[in-house]
Amino acid sequence: MKLLSILIGVLGYLTIPAFCATTIQETEGVNTLVIKAGQPRETISPDIYGHFAEHLGRCIYGGIWVGPDSEIPNIRGIRKDVLEALKKLNLPVLRWPGGCFADEYHWKDGIGPRQNRPRIVNTHWGMVVEDNSFGTHEFLDLCELLGCEAYIAGNVGSGTPEEMMDWVEYMTFDGDSEMANLRKQNGREKPWKIKYFGVGNENWGCGGNMTPEYYADVFKRYQTFIKNYPGSRIIKAACGPNGEDTRWMDVMMSRARPEGIGVHYYVMAGDWGNKGSATEFNEGEWFSLMSKTLRIENIIRAHIEVMDKYDNRRRTQLYIDEWGTWWNQEPGSKPGFLYQQNTVRDAVSAGIYLNEFNKRCDRIKMCNIAQTVNVLQAMVLTEGSKMLVTPTYHVFEMYKVHQGGKLLDSDLTCNAYSREGKKVPALNVSASKGKDGAVYISLCNLDPTTPAEIKCTLDGMTPSKVSGRVLTAQTMNAHNTFDNPEAVKPAELAGIEIKDRQLLAALPSKSVSVLRVE
Ligand code: AHR
Repeated sequence: MKLLSILIGVLGYLTIPAFCATTIQETEGVNTLVIKAGQPRETISPDIYGHFAEHLGRCIYGGIWVGPDSEIPNIRGIRKDVLEALKKLNLPVLRWPGGCFADEYHWKDGIGPRQNRPRIVNTHWGMVVEDNSFGTHEFLDLCELLGCEAYIAGNVGSGTPEEMMDWVEYMTFDGDSEMANLRKQNGREKPWKIKYFGVGNENWGCGGNMTPEYYADVFKRYQTFIKNYPGSRIIKAACGPNGEDTRWMDVMMSRARPEGIGVHYYVMAGDWGNKGSATEFNEGEWFSLMSKTLRIENIIRAHIEVMDKYDNRRRTQLYIDEWGTWWNQEPGSKPGFLYQQNTVRDAVSAGIYLNEFNKRCDRIKMCNIAQTVNVLQAMVLTEGSKMLVTPTYHVFEMYKVHQGGKLLDSDLTCNAYSREGKKVPALNVSASKGKDGAVYISLCNLDPTTPAEIKCTLDGMTPSKVSGRVLTAQTMNAHNTFDNPEAVKPAELAGIEIKDRQLLAALPSKSVSVLRVE
């Protein structure tokens, strides 16, 4: 048995990694792409296309939850319009209740008759009163309505192992116990299935300002009390590093080796002091965002290298459980609410992130963009009873074809997008063989002024039919407003053709395209 497991370990280590390369060509020419269409690789976990909803600003209250007595159409208090929009994304997993809020959330405040729930202060996000009307039952009802998995973030910073253990028992134990009976008393007979449970959030910061050494021990202690009751199988996720902090990863892998570990990486044009405006920016700021987004590739690689040092059998899953753009406070919005608009620039950034996640689907099994509604890089914005979907929403809708597909190796040689002596590849790509058997190629053109022609060869496949959709706009800051909610939306990609077994396509400047090839 021992020998067999060593052999599996060695084979795992020797497995040839996927080959997805991008090269900037020295002299400008035709962009070329080779896809190994005949050699499907690892499955792209649908959970890579996951989302995050925190008790922050108007994400939950007003965005998702209006309460059953609201005039806004709802199902048991959950907004119908938002629900319908999110369903179209095949949203696979939702993380809740934070974020920083998670480490001050006491779950027992959010169960039982709503009128009896305590009012607390949300100290992280605007010092507003949280009435706890949206709690465990409401969140898991939302997950069931969406048909998605739940990723619960537990309270390590200000909670106890006992509190965490009780929560897991309350949600997942199918028997006669104090917690299970309390759940039944509150109207839910059968337990829920919880796929992921996070042991704290950003414990290097708002979750307790811990060192990695200290958190590794705390993680081991708390995770011991997350039990898998009969019929339940929870993946326990550790708080991972902030961006490129490989030391945190090293300590966690050497001391705790969790089942999953989540990195957070946000991008902006400026820095944390002045992140830049969501809608008023110049090309320098566009370029800055593209370069910072592209760094995700190296961040992922660096963390995987550290993980492999301790875990060559790849048992620990890598998550990017908070990611996206973060802009200065939107004029006129409430401080601490993190409400921001979302332009075609955010859409291209999201397209790049998702391509990079797809290409490392050997290790990355879940990601959660921040955040679903009205907060940071949201899918949906609401204003009273009005709702619109953002350019980033459209990217998730277009890319959903990759969910559960098999990664295909890709080799891209492209022109540079240069600015003030710096250059980045003008194009970014990933490809998969979808569950329906078609090949899907998602391509971002990062250059905001120059369209790109591309020639694509599909090794191991004779293409007979191709179609495509594109998301682009006339201006870099094009976005959807409540007066013009469809200013940015996908259209058919014109002029793609198959010639001499190659695909030829013209990608507009500042665009995200998804091609479907049969
Ligand atoms: O997504 C907003 C905040 O960003 C989260 O609460 C926190 O985890 C991160 O710093």
